[in-house]
Amino acid sequence: MSVLPIPIASLRSKNELYTDLAEQLRSLLAGEADFIANAANLSSLLYHALPDLNWAGFYLHKGDDLVLGPFQGKPACVRIAIGKGVCGTAAEQRQTIIVDNVHDFPGHIACDSASNSEIVVPLVKDERLLGVLDLDSPSFARFDDEDARGLNELAEIFIDSSSLEYKL
Ligand code: SME
Repeated sequence: MSVLPIPIASLRSKNELYTDLAEQLRSLLAGEADFIANAANLSSLLYHALPDLNWAGFYLHKGDDLVLGPFQGKPACVRIAIGKGVCGTAAEQRQTIIVDNVHDFPGHIACDSASNSEIVVPLVKDERLLGVLDLDSPSFARFDDEDARGLNELAEIFIDSSSLEYKL
C-alpha cells in the first residue's frame, strides 16, 4: 500500500483559513482608515491567500451604478448598474449571492472568460450601500456557505476599519 503525502495546507479547514485571514486583515489595516488603500490591500490578501481564484476585488456604489474599485486579476468591466449581473443583484438585494455556474445566471456579466463560479458580498454600513466585494473562480461551485460567512466577517472588519468619506 502506498501512502500519498498530503500537503499540510490541505488539512486546514476553510474556517481556520478565514480565522487566520481575519487576524491578518486586522493587523494589515491597523492604524489606517483610508477606504481605497484598505480595499486594495484586502483584494490583494484575498487573491493571494485563497486558492483557486482568478479575480478578487471591489465595485463601489456611485449613483445608480457600481463602479470598479481596487482589485486583483485581469482588467474588468468598469460600470455595472444596480440590479444587473451578479454584482448588481447582490447590491440591490443587499444579500450575499453564491453562483455555482455563472453561465446559468441570467444577466451574468462576463469580464474574464476564465470565470465559472462567483460570490458577491454586499458592503452595507448603517443601511448605506457602499459597494460589493466580488470573487471569481475558474472552478465550478468553488464557493459555499463557509466562504460566505468568512468573507462577510472580513468585509465587516474592512468596513469598521475604514473611513466612509472616500468619494471625491
Ligand atoms: N461577473 C460580474 C461582473 C464583475 S466580474 O466578475 C469582475 C457580474 O455578473 O456582476
